[in-house]
Amino acid sequence: MRVLETFTTDRTVQTTAEIGRRAGLPSSTAHRMVADLVASGLLERDGERRIRLGLRLWELAERGSLALRLRQVALPFMERVQSRIREHTQLAVLERGEALFLERLSSPTSGANITRVAGRLPLHASSSGLILLAFAPEEERERVLAEPLAAVSPETVVDPIELRRRLGAIRRDGFVVAEGSIESVSTGVAVPVRDGRGPVIAALSVVLPREAPTAGAVEELRAAAAGISASLGASRR
Ligand code: PHB
Repeated sequence: MRVLETFTTDRTVQTTAEIGRRAGLPSSTAHRMVADLVASGLLERDGERRIRLGLRLWELAERGSLALRLRQVALPFMERVQSRIREHTQLAVLERGEALFLERLSSPTSGANITRVAGRLPLHASSSGLILLAFAPEEERERVLAEPLAAVSPETVVDPIELRRRLGAIRRDGFVVAEGSIESVSTGVAVPVRDGRGPVIAALSVVLPREAPTAGAVEELRAAAAGISASLGASRR
């Protein structure tokens, strides 16, 4: 895990020496481990002997994964949102205290967006994260509220009292409009996705230019989330 976790969304290609240094491994151990992982296909070596995560790792991770099932059920509904709103459409889940993005659809004309597939955003700063936090088990929510929260933009809500009030409003309204919370040029709009009629398991969001109207996006997202929930409920029966 220490070797694999040296790869991040921004650092996708490394030399074996860099991997060893970042994983805190002696050089000989790093070379042996990387060679073993390359032999099994979990890592791949390019023509310049640089290392990246292997296709075999992706294959094993996707096989039977709940994230893949959710993504596949959600995709047609996300495509509908994307074609009607014509801005970035994302699906995120709560993973170890952050919003992890399973899918993002964009068109060439879509504006700025820092979310990436298999990338993460802080819960308190992104629209998806706020949804996931609002509907998270109380214990998990309290854990996040008890920690010092970092401002990602000047408009990120970091005051725990204000954030708690906001999360209450999100639970009541069933959606969030987060203006400039991550970057001042955009507004994130997100809704919860339930597993059938059960718990919230994901957030569905669009990233709009800051001044764009949001009511249509809320409506589209709600319809899509309801469709995903119905499909998840039906596919289990
Ligand atoms: C958001 O979800 O609030 C969000 C995400 C990515 C951006 C901007 C806003 O680039």
